[in-house]
Amino acid sequence: MARTPVIAGNWKMHLTRRKASGLARAVAEAQGEAEGRRCVLFPAFVHLEHVRRKIRGTTVLLGAQNCHEEKEGAFTGEVSVPMLKDMGVQVVLVGHSERRHVFGESDERIGRKLQAVLRARLQGMLCVGETLEEREAGRTFEVLERQLRVLRGAVRKPEQAALLSIAYEPVWAIGTGRTATPETAQEAHAELRRLLGDILGAEAAASTPLLYGGSVKPGNAAELLARPDVDGLLVGGASLSPGTFLPILDAAPAAARAAESHG
Ligand code: PGA
Repeated sequence: MARTPVIAGNWKMHLTRRKASGLARAVAEAQGEAEGRRCVLFPAFVHLEHVRRKIRGTTVLLGAQNCHEEKEGAFTGEVSVPMLKDMGVQVVLVGHSERRHVFGESDERIGRKLQAVLRARLQGMLCVGETLEEREAGRTFEVLERQLRVLRGAVRKPEQAALLSIAYEPVWAIGTGRTATPETAQEAHAELRRLLGDILGAEAAASTPLLYGGSVKPGNAAELLARPDVDGLLVGGASLSPGTFLPILDAAPAAARAAESHG
């Protein structure tokens, strides 16, 4: 399956302007004009413009960590999709577990955000994943099914499905140092691809990139990427310095070759 590997860095609420610019420059140099893998950076809103300048002329994509679902209005403190597009943002993260669990975003809200992103013809990266309690209760697949249901309303046309990627981030693995094993990630990704087939059809399911996120490090990136349904990685903590992020970025082409030679 020829899905281009995606390595994404979610910087969350970290970094000063200077550090963000320096890190963006290092990533831009490492990625250059490479086409064999995609690289996305998700800086805080206030750093978008600085990062945009550093990655100009490379294939690094500019991402935003969140958005509001309305185009404009009296929503103090919020940022709309047209504003992000105007800034040069190409990808928007929707439904990150911190948005769901710290800020109380519902599936319904997340669905509306994703719809706003896809309608504006930006790429949408929808994050899904179960809590430890849900996993231990054997409810992982049920949770993933519920979280993917928003696609029924948000993806209206085949060209919108082509803008979608899904990040599987088990909540128990985020920032905990407890990475899902490659087998656990593959099992969840295979189920996500099956669910995508039900919702969006076989073609979209086969071409949608599925990223794994949760304590990704240089030491586990390649083995995760080697799994057939793990098409990319969404990296938090380890994306905050070139010393840990660049080796993860480098793991991408190697893993893609390995997957090809197996079949
Ligand atoms: P982590 O975060 O790599 O620090 O676990 C991943 C994420 O939240 O996207």
